[in-house]
Amino acid sequence: MQTADLRQRWLDYFAERGHTVVPSASLVSDDPTLMFTVAGMVPFIPYLSGLIPAPYPRATSVQKCIRTLDIEEVGKTTRHGTFFQMAGNFSFGDYFKEQAISFAWELLTKSESEGGLGFEERDLWVTVYEEDDEAIELWKRVAGLPEQRIQRLGKADNYWHTGQPGPGGPCSEIYFDRGAKYGAEGGPAADDSRYLEIWNLVFMQYLLDDVRSKTDFSVVRELPKKNIDTGLGVERVAFLKQGVENMYEIDQVRPVLDRAAEISGRPYGRDHGDDVRMRVVADHVRSALMLMADGVTPSNEGRGYILRRLLRRSVRAMRLLGVDVATFPELFTTSRDAMKAAYPEVEKSYDRIARLAYSEEENFLGTLASGTSILDLAVSKTREEGRRQLPGDTAFLLHDTFGFPIDLTLEMAEEAGLTVDRGAFDALMAEQRNKAKADAKAKKTALADLSVYSDFRALGETVFTGYDYLQTETRVLGIIVDGESVSRAVAGQTAEVILAETSLYAESGGQEADAGTIVGAGFELDVLDVQKPVKGLVSHRVEVRTGEVAVDDAATTIVDPDWRRGATQAHSATHLIHAALRQVLGPDAHQSGSYNKAGYMRLDFGWNQALSPETRSEIEEIANVAIRRDLPVETRVMPLDEAKALGAMALFGEKYGETVRVVDIGGPWSRELCAGTHVSSSAQVGLVNLVSESSVGSTNRRVEALVGIDAFRELATERAIVSQLTSNLKTPREQLPDRIAELLSSLKAAEKRIAEFESAALAQRVPDLAASAVRRGDFSVVKADVGSLGSSDDLRSLVTSVRARLGSDAAVVALAGVVGGKPSVIVAANDAARDRGVKAGPLAKAAAGVLGGGGGGKDDLAQGGGTNAEAIPAALDAVVDGLPN
Ligand code: SER
Repeated sequence: MQTADLRQRWLDYFAERGHTVVPSASLVSDDPTLMFTVAGMVPFIPYLSGLIPAPYPRATSVQKCIRTLDIEEVGKTTRHGTFFQMAGNFSFGDYFKEQAISFAWELLTKSESEGGLGFEERDLWVTVYEEDDEAIELWKRVAGLPEQRIQRLGKADNYWHTGQPGPGGPCSEIYFDRGAKYGAEGGPAADDSRYLEIWNLVFMQYLLDDVRSKTDFSVVRELPKKNIDTGLGVERVAFLKQGVENMYEIDQVRPVLDRAAEISGRPYGRDHGDDVRMRVVADHVRSALMLMADGVTPSNEGRGYILRRLLRRSVRAMRLLGVDVATFPELFTTSRDAMKAAYPEVEKSYDRIARLAYSEEENFLGTLASGTSILDLAVSKTREEGRRQLPGDTAFLLHDTFGFPIDLTLEMAEEAGLTVDRGAFDALMAEQRNKAKADAKAKKTALADLSVYSDFRALGETVFTGYDYLQTETRVLGIIVDGESVSRAVAGQTAEVILAETSLYAESGGQEADAGTIVGAGFELDVLDVQKPVKGLVSHRVEVRTGEVAVDDAATTIVDPDWRRGATQAHSATHLIHAALRQVLGPDAHQSGSYNKAGYMRLDFGWNQALSPETRSEIEEIANVAIRRDLPVETRVMPLDEAKALGAMALFGEKYGETVRVVDIGGPWSRELCAGTHVSSSAQVGLVNLVSESSVGSTNRRVEALVGIDAFRELATERAIVSQLTSNLKTPREQLPDRIAELLSSLKAAEKRIAEFESAALAQRVPDLAASAVRRGDFSVVKADVGSLGSSDDLRSLVTSVRARLGSDAAVVALAGVVGGKPSVIVAANDAARDRGVKAGPLAKAAAGVLGGGGGGKDDLAQGGGTNAEAIPAALDAVVDGLPN
């Protein structure tokens, strides 16, 4: 059964049963909390949660999905794909459990000739949520499934939500038994590789909130209607039906795998390592193709970064297969041909896809070769030095000079059995960012002689259309190269472009300039920066990527939508945090500066003491509650007086008589004068995570926050750290602080006991040492190497105890030992010895000299140390030789 056939059977089956067939939505999810469409239900979230009435009671779809969480597993298992298709049937308050189970069972077990999927009943197992007795009864009654093939599992397996606040509920999963060859008996609870999950039926009946993990969330309330959300893994069923071993061998994927094998000259199925690489190529090329068809462009952030990672991992896998020339032209066309029947968009936008993919490969191939040899060198050097960690500066060099994403370096280091000094790498990255910012500032002011701008400004203001549009068709008014107005610029040149209108936001009011492109007939310009060198005039600093641009050309400005979404989230988050600050601290906490860009914001405000952790949390909480309340965002343009009368906060010294733009979030809840771009309702901000609070000067504080998906990632990292601690310490999360305090105090107690034992052991050595005294002229002398000791205090107390034990006749004690890896010597003389002219200071100094160091002290007690422990006997002899005759 071909994948396309499977897809059609699915849609036909549910269409015949009253379901509206809904085409697959884009991989780029429009849910602000999700970077990609991760499940078939994502486009239906507003209907499932009851936010918007569903336009149909039942629906069915075969949805494109991307999940990259398990990217490392790709190729190694039968079923991890970064791109996959989920076939689903949905009921919005229409049918529920019984009907969902009955549909699923019928479609699975109906013969292929009757339009079903033709599975044998005896091969199917199900799992249900442990408390769901009703589902068990239904499986028995509706499907006639014997009790022993129904297993109960907990929340980790049989409860479903997207990982974000929203709808969720218990689920029931259907598994196919692949047979004894693939693992142990005992059903899915025992082995989820032999028993392969093929279909998940979710009984959506609750609204969830505070989703902290798969199993840790709060139920807000029951949904107004009970819904059904199911998902069948198309790739999984396809590989079972096609009689192949895994999802990489199905008709839509296998051709790329074969092509990779052919190009490399290594057959598939001979060497496990090579097989995994071919599967990685086949999976990643397809995912990248589908992402680019949905408009994603390789970049260093967000979705673009994920795409870049997929592309670079494919290049690298081909290289590990022994191929170091470009292969994307062949691999991508092969993948396109395998996918175009189901997804015509891959053919329609293939020109763009090819341009992006091929140039990404060209660029990366060049750097991969040199980067890999640098890495290999660093790996052998690290090994030779007996270390297990690659230095952070190597990772940084690879990133900075060779464009190696840090993940790639981490992976390659891991393959060589090493880790990477991540802390040092992050510090270097931060340093570079600060430097780049300073450089950019310097460049911005030195753009060009301002007179060249005023000529253009005289033509009128640049019209900013970007509040309403991401794209704008306009005309080139001027081109500036090296401060001179010129008539054209060609590929490879950097220039400034002045346009009549622009949808690209120029850096101002704390908001970073938009990222994007400017295109026209025969040229493409990459936008590097957008500034207003004089008020009212926007200048686009660009690099001409292809072609030639001339004054008077028609041009279209295109804002990178991902960037802009992030920028609006961050700017609205800045307003939310500002409002929250003032709520908590009072109206004196006035904003003194701010900066925001996709994923990040910071705000400086007048305040002269540090915020307590409680205050920080309160501010963060207020901002997030405002997000959840989904407050409308409204902008109005009005005279300044009017805005002030409304209580809008004027921040940047607006002039009297001007018209200003007022941005409200939730009416007066947050009201500011602001020209920035904002979300249209607060929920679109997603999430704000206040990550730091610090001082800037004596009268200002700074708060910094991550916004949207970046905020989530930061929390996810912290969660991973906590879960590592809980598993290492075998302690539930809530008890971690107590457990760590307990461990520290028992460590302290243990250290104290060790010290007691050590001093008791030292005390026991005193009699023997005293008994070893020999006569030397008038003196009774003890000299000994006492070996390794915990501290020089130990050595000192040993020396004084021995001296005390020697009585009142003239006595000198010289003991040496090794403390903290270094030789140390202490000399003591008693009263009678000093009366006869002995001074401990010079004796210790002489001994220390022999040890290769220095020393000294009082007449009765002195100490010294050095570096050469082997010289201890000679050092002790030097003490004896130094005694008066
Ligand atoms: N949403 C569920 C899943 O992704 C079923 O469609 O598994």
